[in-house]
Amino acid sequence: MALKTCGFGILGVGKDIPEIVVTNADIEKVLDTSDEWITTRTGIKERRRVADGENTTDMGTRAARAALAAAGVEPGEVDLLICCTCSPDVAVPSAACMIQDRLGIADRCAAFDLNAACTGFIYGLSVATAFMRAGVYRKALVVGAETLSRWLDVNDRGTYVLFGDGAGAAVVGPTEPGRGLVGEYLRADGSLGPTLMVHETGTRVRTEAEMAENPSRIVMNGREVFKFATAALGEATVEALKAAGDNLTLADLDHVFPHQANARIIESAAKRVGLPMDKVYVNIHKYGNTSSASIPIALAEALEEGRLKPGDLLSLVAFGGGLTYGSSIWVW
Ligand code: ACO
Repeated sequence: MALKTCGFGILGVGKDIPEIVVTNADIEKVLDTSDEWITTRTGIKERRRVADGENTTDMGTRAARAALAAAGVEPGEVDLLICCTCSPDVAVPSAACMIQDRLGIADRCAAFDLNAACTGFIYGLSVATAFMRAGVYRKALVVGAETLSRWLDVNDRGTYVLFGDGAGAAVVGPTEPGRGLVGEYLRADGSLGPTLMVHETGTRVRTEAEMAENPSRIVMNGREVFKFATAALGEATVEALKAAGDNLTLADLDHVFPHQANARIIESAAKRVGLPMDKVYVNIHKYGNTSSASIPIALAEALEEGRLKPGDLLSLVAFGGGLTYGSSIWVW
């Protein structure tokens, strides 16, 4: 089926995975948990951690270089650089500005960070293509990079086992006819913000009562996030397909790349909308939840494995802190 695309698509993808592996067995040694609990509740077997002295922008820069090489695009051709992250090295300068400098294109393009937590990469791709459709920019680098390990509290078993570090990136630009972005749907429900908060990273100081209740920096109501996510992933994909037009339905999708937060969430969400799991990419067992990096890492791996062929219809779909959620549909 020849779909009407916006004329802009993903030209290349790259990833950067830290070398340090933390297995469930490693976590069993420091926390009252078990490989069996973590595996059955989340699907995670291991996750990666950045080395001491390394930060979000180190991984982000390497992933960006890999994406540029895959796209055959020179850094100097990039006129927009967005870093999707909720864990930048520092509040100012932005991770995007730091990555821009390391790529040797300081003062050559616009650069800013975008925080939509785990939905960041979906938001970032939409912002980049919107600029292009408006005729403002031609080639963008969208990076998803996170170092959530620095905020983990080893005493909080509800969150310590879940998160990992990593980065992925995509170069977005003009595509041949019939390929690229065909539809998108972005949403946020700010009233649900308190279900997932990362403290001591902004100006707000927690009260003594709040600290006494839960001193962990990452404070999450796992069950509420789980419920929200199982509904949001399906809703976002279905709405993005509707926005694409041409009466597209879930049955038309060749691949779905969901945010890798929990294998059970992915399976429940797929079951709810009747999507067979053989279309759904899952690599959470290796990396845990890498927030905004999870989808570009998954895309990069699927490409390395030769799973995507030109003309395939993909959905990228995520949920995250905010709470945010969204999906975009692409002809590969
Ligand atoms: N090991 C062993 N037991 C544990 C662990 C652990 N690591 N963590 C919690 N438990 C215990 C709890 O204390 C509880 O015990 P209790 O019944 O005696 O009180 C029991 O296991 C069940 O706890 P629940 O929280 O109900 O477990 P649940 O089945 O909901 O799984 C989980 C918890 C994995 C966190 C799940 O709720 C989840 O994945 N939620 C979504 C989280 C998520 O995706 N967050 C990322 C958002 S994306 C972003 O923007 C960062």
